[in-house]
Amino acid sequence: MPFNQLKQQYSTCDKCEELCNNRTQVVFGAGNKEADVLLLGEAPGASEDKQGIPFCGMSGKILNELLDSAGLSREDIFITNTVLCRPPENRNPSKLEIENCRDRLDKLISIMQPKVIVTIGNFATERIIGKTGIKTIHGQLFDFKEGIQVVPVVHPASYLYSGRNPDLLKQMQDDFKTIAEVVNAKVKQKNLSDFSVGLSE
Ligand code: URA
Repeated sequence: MPFNQLKQQYSTCDKCEELCNNRTQVVFGAGNKEADVLLLGEAPGASEDKQGIPFCGMSGKILNELLDSAGLSREDIFITNTVLCRPPENRNPSKLEIENCRDRLDKLISIMQPKVIVTIGNFATERIIGKTGIKTIHGQLFDFKEGIQVVPVVHPASYLYSGRNPDLLKQMQDDFKTIAEVVNAKVKQKNLSDFSVGLSE
């Protein structure tokens, strides 16, 4: 299924009654759909629900700074969330809501075929690799299917809740450097294998 068809299909999704009744719009995702990196957040907040763009509020500002500190930009990535619609009062997404959005995310991953998935916070991390405990596993590499590597990171909202703890910021910057290194290594690997296929043709 092409990307635009998936996006179109979910623009009117009505699987989660409460989210559907409270949302301004479905926030499908933003960025470069050809990117090697897929960032997965938790759920749209108030700004995202209004503007239709993931991570466009305060957390998004921190995320942009972290990307920038690692030499990455929004053009290098595609961002979406574990659930596409804002939970009222920014409550956590429920298990059922995450399940209702499962097929959509699986399809997105198989269309995009990213080389790296960055899971932001516990909900996204659990959704992809079945693990929680982000404070312990952040910045580590996990194998997912089809050679995709997963790097969990602490949610920028946690940094805001910490009162902008400088040690936490440093840790998050280090994790984003790890992400950039993994992406660069994967791209190099791909270029080398394309080159050797070219030679054998
Ligand atoms: N937090 C998220 O997890 N996702 C967003 O899109 C915005 C804030």
